[in-house]
Amino acid sequence: PTAPAGPTPHMGSSAVVSSSSDAAHYEMKGNTIIVVFGASGDLAKKKTFPALFRLFRQGFLPNDVKIVGYARTKMDKAEFHSRATSYIKKSDDDAGLAESIDKFKDTLTYVDGDYDTGAAFDVLNAHLLEIEAHYTSEDKNRLFYFALPPNVFVTVAKNIKEHVYASPGVNRIIVEKPFGKDLDSARELLSSLKQYWSEEETYRIDHYLGKEMVKNILVLRFANVAFASCWDKSHISNVQITFKEPFGTEGRGGYFDSFGIIRDVLQNHLLQVLSILTMERPVSFSAEDIRDEKVKVLRCIPPIAQEDTLLGQYVGADGKPGYLDDDTVPRGSVCPTFAATTLWINNPRWEGVPFILKAGKGIMNGRYFCPKSKYGIQFKDVTQGIFQDIARNELVIRIQPSEAVYLKMNAKTPGLQTHAMVTEMDLTYNRRFAEAKIPEAYEALILDALQGDHSNFVRHDELDVAWKIFTPILHWIDGKNGTPPHPSSYPYGLRGPQDLDKFIQKYGYHRT
Ligand code: NDP
Ligand code: BG6
Repeated sequence: PTAPAGPTPHMGSSAVVSSSSDAAHYEMKGNTIIVVFGASGDLAKKKTFPALFRLFRQGFLPNDVKIVGYARTKMDKAEFHSRATSYIKKSDDDAGLAESIDKFKDTLTYVDGDYDTGAAFDVLNAHLLEIEAHYTSEDKNRLFYFALPPNVFVTVAKNIKEHVYASPGVNRIIVEKPFGKDLDSARELLSSLKQYWSEEETYRIDHYLGKEMVKNILVLRFANVAFASCWDKSHISNVQITFKEPFGTEGRGGYFDSFGIIRDVLQNHLLQVLSILTMERPVSFSAEDIRDEKVKVLRCIPPIAQEDTLLGQYVGADGKPGYLDDDTVPRGSVCPTFAATTLWINNPRWEGVPFILKAGKGIMNGRYFCPKSKYGIQFKDVTQGIFQDIARNELVIRIQPSEAVYLKMNAKTPGLQTHAMVTEMDLTYNRRFAEAKIPEAYEALILDALQGDHSNFVRHDELDVAWKIFTPILHWIDGKNGTPPHPSSYPYGLRGPQDLDKFIQKYGYHRT
């Protein structure tokens, strides 16, 4: 297979890296400290520490790694340990788990301090130096994870650079979205961060890029002639990329209301999926080759038109509160909690094919009470004649829950008569690869950052072009050019606004 080899657990120590291009691809194997800023917060507790634990347990973290939490909240060691391990999935039949958690705790220390004074960062640095005093070689690696709200990104980036930057050593930052609110603010944020951190030191997370079935797209597309040969406007009628969450903003309304579903999910997670689905084959699997192709295809997408947009907001139903019932949401807000937008790609491969991006909160998802996301490629009608009303093929890739690839196809009904029926060629991962451990997105991405692999992180120019596509529609929704549009109401738990089916059919989608 030509796909890059999978990572192996670390065993040894590393060498000193001096030149910046070496540093870009340098793998942090030993002498490494991971500092988690905002360690008292939601993301750190639910995603960052559990991902670090899983990597630690499987032997993928650098040898003798130390993890330092930093935030303003005062906590003693026991409280920090308890928070950092509270979201580790525990099961009775997991032999050795308790012992692994204890070992993980031995790597964890906590420093409290503010985000805006240099003196607080000097205290943090003194703590890191104390850890590093035990190193037997000169190299030092520091990976700084920003589990922080964006209003403190730049201050923290500056203070780390001025007070906590290891020199000599390899330093990297991992930054979480949101990266701005529109094109101008994103450019401002990027250039402020760039004063202190180079592109090669910066890892911008879009955690969808760490999901197994998003990482799978390149292999599915380019390692299968059967798919590669029909991946264009001559064969594909429309593509839908969908995200549904069966819960509302619940307490996160303050953050959500100033962003809305388009900035929260479409402009980043779903657009990333779209770019990998539609890019040309990269020259290699290197980060720059992949991201060059993504940027090229994104540049062919014009800004989204108002008429290609459907907005919704959930209202209370069946005892569940509506968006406006959330105390953290401003009264009368017209912030969309659901959006469907159709994008067009003006290049020879995709001209005329609608790409429908849909995302919503407060949308029930069959029997699952968890987010569901998938992408579906619907092929064109088969030539009629011997068949009438025969269903279209549709290739569906379910990102979550229960990763799967299935092809809706026609087959002869078994038996003596010749009738066609719709059936599925089904590759459901937990059945086919029952023993495989599918990593969580954050696990895969933190490992990539330690290994100096930028392929699954967002490059500055990707971000710029993504904002160009979405900024006009966002300004319209924000009411920057007049009265903001009023989203259609949909009851909590339904599929979205009533007009959704009409909207999708407008672009040629047929239910199969
Ligand atoms: P939190 O609101 O929990 O903030 C993290 C920590 O930052 C808090 O514990 C607090 O620590 C500090 N903090 C909070 N508000 C402020 C403020 N106004 N000024 C200074 N410090 C503050 O955020 P999350 O953990 O939910 O998210 C962190 C980042 O990750 C954000 O950029 C978010 O958009 C992103 N993200 C979050 C996801 C999630 O599931 N939660 C998913 C994807 C991205 P203290 O007061 O102790 O310093
Ligand atoms: C985050 C959004 O980026 O992604 C959240 O801010 C959303 O609103 C989350 O819930 C969904 O992630 P996942 O991995 O559960 O699909």
